[in-house]
Order: sequence, then C-alpha cells, then structure tokens
Amino acid sequence: MGQTLTEKILDDHLVEGDLQPGEEIGIEIDQTLSQDTTGTMVWLQFEALEMDEVQTELAAQYCDHQTYQFDFKNTDDHRFLRSAAGTYGAYFSRPGNGICHNVHKENFAAPGKTLLGSDSHTPTPGGLGQLAIGAGGIDIAVAMGGGAYYVEMPEVVNVRLEGELPEWATAKDVILELLRRLSVKGGVGKVLEYTGPGVESLSVPERTTITNMGTELGATSSIFPTDDRTEDWLARFDREDEFVDLQADADAEYADEIVVDLSDLEPLIAEPSMPDNVVPVREVAGQEVEQVMVGSCTNGAYEDVLPAAKMLEGREVSKHTEMIVAPGSKQASEMLAREGWTAEMMAAGVNFSEATCGACIGIGHVPASDSVSLRTFNRNFEGRSGIEDDSVYLCSPEVATASAIAGEIVDPRDLSDDLGDLEAPGFEMGTSYSGGYGAGDTDIITPEESIDDDLIKGPNISSVPVKDPLGADVRGETLLKMQDNITTDHIIPATSDILKFRSNIERLSEFTLSRIDDTFAERAKAADSGVLVAGENYGQGSSREHAAMCPMFLGVESVLAQSFARIHKANLFNFGILPLNIDEETYARIEQGDDVEVVDDVAAAVADGQEEFTVRVNDDWEATATLDASERERRTLAAGGKLSLTKQRHSEG
Ligand code: F3S
Repeated sequence: MGQTLTEKILDDHLVEGDLQPGEEIGIEIDQTLSQDTTGTMVWLQFEALEMDEVQTELAAQYCDHQTYQFDFKNTDDHRFLRSAAGTYGAYFSRPGNGICHNVHKENFAAPGKTLLGSDSHTPTPGGLGQLAIGAGGIDIAVAMGGGAYYVEMPEVVNVRLEGELPEWATAKDVILELLRRLSVKGGVGKVLEYTGPGVESLSVPERTTITNMGTELGATSSIFPTDDRTEDWLARFDREDEFVDLQADADAEYADEIVVDLSDLEPLIAEPSMPDNVVPVREVAGQEVEQVMVGSCTNGAYEDVLPAAKMLEGREVSKHTEMIVAPGSKQASEMLAREGWTAEMMAAGVNFSEATCGACIGIGHVPASDSVSLRTFNRNFEGRSGIEDDSVYLCSPEVATASAIAGEIVDPRDLSDDLGDLEAPGFEMGTSYSGGYGAGDTDIITPEESIDDDLIKGPNISSVPVKDPLGADVRGETLLKMQDNITTDHIIPATSDILKFRSNIERLSEFTLSRIDDTFAERAKAADSGVLVAGENYGQGSSREHAAMCPMFLGVESVLAQSFARIHKANLFNFGILPLNIDEETYARIEQGDDVEVVDDVAAAVADGQEEFTVRVNDDWEATATLDASERERRTLAAGGKLSLTKQRHSEG
C-alpha cells in the first residue's frame, strides 16, 4: 500500500514505534524554533542538559511576542536568548525582525524536514512541505539535545482541493471554510494533508496561510505537497537547492477525505469570539468598524500586505476607522518600503507597526471599549485583544482593507462605485527577497557571527532544577489534600504578576498551590520531601509545565490522585514525579499531614513494569495504589524526568 506524504516524512524520521494511528511514535527532529515567551525556559532546560551545543541540524530563536518593551525583564530575556543562541550554536533573530513563523519560513523552513517549535502555529511551513509540529518547551530542549520527539501517530486526512479561487476569495477563505465545516475541534489528532488539482493554483504564501490556521482546527499539523511553485518560492530566497519533490503515493490511503471546491468560495469572516464562528461577509455587512489590522503570522507576508496597498492606492481610510499594518517580518516591511508601497499606504491613512506579534496577544493597539475590530489574524478569543468583551472579527486582508475604506464591514464585491471602482488586486508574488532586501541578513545572527560565548542572565532568570534518578524510597508528609478537578491554574496561577517569574523557578515556586493554601510553598520547602493527595481529574486545564516543575522543585515526590488529566500526568513523568492512582476509599481515609510511604523498592518496581504499589500511611494502615505508565514513561520517571534521561543518554554516547 502506498504512503501519504505525512507517512513518508514520518517514516524517514522514525526512531521508535509503528505508523499506526493512535500508537506512540518517536521521530527525529531536524530543526527547532522557539519564541521569546517560551524560549527562556527552553534554553534554561537545555542548559540543564550540560551539552556544548545543539544537536539538531538547525535551531532558531526568535524575539517576536514581546518586542514592545515594558520593563527590563523583556530586554533581559532577549539578551539571555541571544547569549544562549550564541553559546549553543543556534540562529538568533533580533527583536523587531519579525514573527517566528514568517522569519523561519523565509530563511530556514525546508521541504521534507521535521520542525518542532515551542509555539502553537509552528505548522505554518507545512505550506512548503515541511512537517512541523508545536510542542512544549521541554520537548524542544530535548530535541535540541538530540532526543526524539514522541507523539501519538495522527490520522492523516485528505483535504482535496478542486477548482480555482474566484475574484475576491482568498486562501484565508479556504481555511475559514474548513473552520466553518469542521469547528475548532475538527482537526484534533489529525494531520491535514492537502491534495488535488486546486493545490497548484495556490502559491506558497497562500498555502502557509492555510497551514498556519490548521492550528485553529486543533490539527497536529497541516501539509502541502511540493511542486514548481515551491521551487520557485525557494529560489526567490536563493534556496532552490533545498527543494525536494514530495508527493503522496497515488494509492495512499487516508483516514478521511474532505473536498473543497475553491471556485465555490466567497469572502468569509469569523465573528466574535471563536475562529469557527464563520459566516459569509455579506451576512454581517454594514457594522461600523473602528479598527482594522493587517498582519500576524497568518497574513503578514509581503504578498498579504500588497493587496491592501494596491486597494488603497489613490484612496483613503475612512474617518470612522483606524487602520494598522503590522507585517510579519522585517523583510516584508523592507520590500514594501523600498517599492514605495509603505508611503502609498501611509498617504492613505495607515499606521505602520514594527514586525511583531504584539496586538495579536493584546500588547499594543488594544481596541476601544465596545467597538468592532477587524483583523487578519488567526484567533479572536474573548479578551485576547487586551480588552474584555471585545468584538474581534477575522478575515482576509482584502475584506479588512475594503472595510477600512468603507468604515464598515463590507464584502469587497459590493463596495459601491462612489468609492471608486475597486478592482480585485489579485495575488502577486514578491519579485525577489534576496540581494536587495537585507533584513534577513542583518537581523539574524548566525552561530558563526555570534558575539556571545556565555549565558547572560538578568536578575529574573535562574537555572532550572534537575531531579535525581528515582530512588528506592518514596516517602513524606501529605503536604496538601485537595478536591476533584484541581486545575493547573490552581497549581501555578497564570496571572501576569506571577507568570512574569516564568524564567525563575525558585521565585515562581513560592506561588505553588497558593490559591488553595498560601502556606504550601513554605511548608513544602521546610519538609524537604512530601506527597500531594487529590480527587478526580487532577491537573486539568492548560498544559503548563511549570505546574509540574514547581512542585518538583519544592520536593514533591508523588501525587496520589483518583485520576489525572492527561497532559498534566505526562508533565509529572517529564519532571520525575510519581503519579499514583488511588481508589475513593483510600482518598477518603488519607488526611493532610499523614505520613505516606510507598513500601516497594520504587525504582526497581517502576523499571520492572510493576503496576500495583503498596502505600503505608502513618505506619498504621496500608492501601494499594496503581501506576498506569507506558514503557517510555517508566524510563523517564526512573531517570528523574525527561531532562535527566536525555542527559543520561548523552553521557552514555
Ligand atoms: Fe504571534 Fe499571534 Fe502568530 S501571537 S505567533 S502572531 S498567533
């Protein structure tokens, strides 16, 4: 049986497991990327591996989320990231050089390679045939250390594109149509693989708009085959030697097929406050718009801004509306400026922003209260723009610009003649990104050009703890007994006054479980070792690694719970904490303050695959607890966590 394109790339990189949907597989990673808010922890974890340099073909560090500085912590973070990239042999993209996905796509993304990134929109370069997956910080650090990335083998779904886009319909409408049909959960556990005759009608920037927003479908990744257009695009960056011809086999079998006839599409828009609230633009036309933003990792390419510039030629932004353009990369900004488009847009009333995530996460350009903001971004979750009860709509640059001219939401096909016959700008590729456009050269510091050979840590950055391998004894006081449904927010609150310590585990750990008991951190530190007891669904909510790292730092050896949330349980293994299941009766009987001892030789039992453990409480009564763990999770736990395991493997050669 033939293989899908996804299976081919996975097969090429497979180090463990079989390509059977639902089975865990380990794959080798060729490239990694991290951004500034997740990057500090990635590099602190890499430091803990005690390696001299990154082991992947390429690692890149970007500064894009927080480039509008608030205080010294951001600049300290950026300087630390530059020093880490230089010290360990990674590329460093300076603050203001652009959003990680745009800059990575332009400079490094390559067909057939695997990319792991600590940002959820990492799948963006799937548009040029790269298999790219978003993951947690520790996974990136381990991959940079040469370790495999483990993931459940996804189902591969065929998204068959037919026909060609009509005037005014764009790549953004393709992905909005999929969101309309499938919802934000429609891609979970899947790779969306695009095929069919419609593929060749789309350029690489159009394809990457689609793969970028596959994340909003919940997909593990999205990918296009490669063709002449991929080769041509790489050639514009002087990278044609990185082209590889990649196609699924003609007899490949897919888990499912979705057909989209491009010629049926029309301008679409996602209403507040979910990317899958999609309707035709004409259905919501007429609403006054106070703000329009063109940019982000979804629609921030030169080719995305160009239609806006062409539409604004000789026209003006409405007096009702403020229009901001934030290109996705400095290279795109530079091209627009050199070709005169920036001046044209400024004359029309557009404000220009530096190339940054900024407004996408509520940093700058926060909409006014009770107003409509039209954005070409990928997410419009309530409050994300920086104001509660916001009204953010998601659409293409063409719809955004037409609405900025009209001062109200408008389907560009219906923009009246008195605004001057508005012609569809059509799609046009940038001529050449190399040579004349130097931002990529000057704002990326290569490993060879590095000015650093040691880490520079400001006062808010401190090394991460690494746990010792699991010993024979696990015992300690029950430091806290908790109810059902404890969230990772209970364990480490996500408020900005607390999360600002994310690069300083010692300081952050002082807030561990403080929402339940503000004496917890102090008591845990004094006790030196201890256990936690909880009811059902312990650790639900976000995937925050700090919710396992901080308890580990405070000496928590084991969590005894009636059940665990899946991702948090994986994080407990990753940081060397023993997650044991207990029954309702045991839960009811254990009290806070009780001494708990796991009677078995824990290290040996975990390594041997033992599932049942005897727990002795107060040297008085015993109960049975169970460990539900895969072989790999047992290996991780026995080593003291993922970092310790990678370190151990590296020292064994
Ligand atoms: Fe940045 Fe928003 Fe994309 S935060 S990475 S522009 S989703």
